[in-house]
Amino acid sequence: MRGKFITFEGIDGAGKSSHVEWLAEHLRARGHTVLLTREPGGTSLGEKLRELLLNEPMHLETETLLMFAARREHLAQRIEPALERGEWVICDRFSDATWAYQGGGRGLDKAKFLALEHWVHEHLQPDLTLLFDLPLEIARERIVLANRVLDKFEQERADFHHRVRQAYLERAQANPSRIRTIAAEKTIGEIRKQLEVVFSTIC
Ligand code: TYD
Repeated sequence: MRGKFITFEGIDGAGKSSHVEWLAEHLRARGHTVLLTREPGGTSLGEKLRELLLNEPMHLETETLLMFAARREHLAQRIEPALERGEWVICDRFSDATWAYQGGGRGLDKAKFLALEHWVHEHLQPDLTLLFDLPLEIARERIVLANRVLDKFEQERADFHHRVRQAYLERAQANPSRIRTIAAEKTIGEIRKQLEVVFSTIC
């Protein structure tokens, strides 16, 4: 039986990373084999592209094409084979991030996004996407508290992040059966309860 493909999304500072790890353990404890991976990245080439994408200024279309190039490699080398073997794949960001960041944040033409999405994964969408949503100010506060070097996207101004959030919410509204919104301003315990409810129906 084919495995399931779960993605995590949200604006920077939404705090999804710790929950990604937790979910992988939760599923392993239920006997599933889990591949935990991320985008951009997930392969040796993809991680090299990530380094460039997160640090190097570039034209919007170059950025978008590299995101999808990394994704193509990731799908071919890791995601598709794992799903074929019946494993669960948990991916920290996928094409909804391109929709939100390059589309919403930077204003990429939607038709260009759709053409690339169609080219790179015409027959594949995540079975489930968890969108960690919270007010911008709380997300910003978390980033400041983490006190680390900020990447190219985290350095963007508030209006950019506002557009990213809006694009995510629009995408969730357009795909209500795939994308579940998680109230990410809550405590870790409360968020885990929300996740347990979502997963009790599918595993
Ligand atoms: P992120 O996943 O938040 O990693 P970390 O938790 O280590 O900071 O960082 C990846 C960044 O890349 C994030 O700011 C969103 C951006 N991104 C895009 O702009 N488009 C994409 O298609 C993807 C996958 C990520």
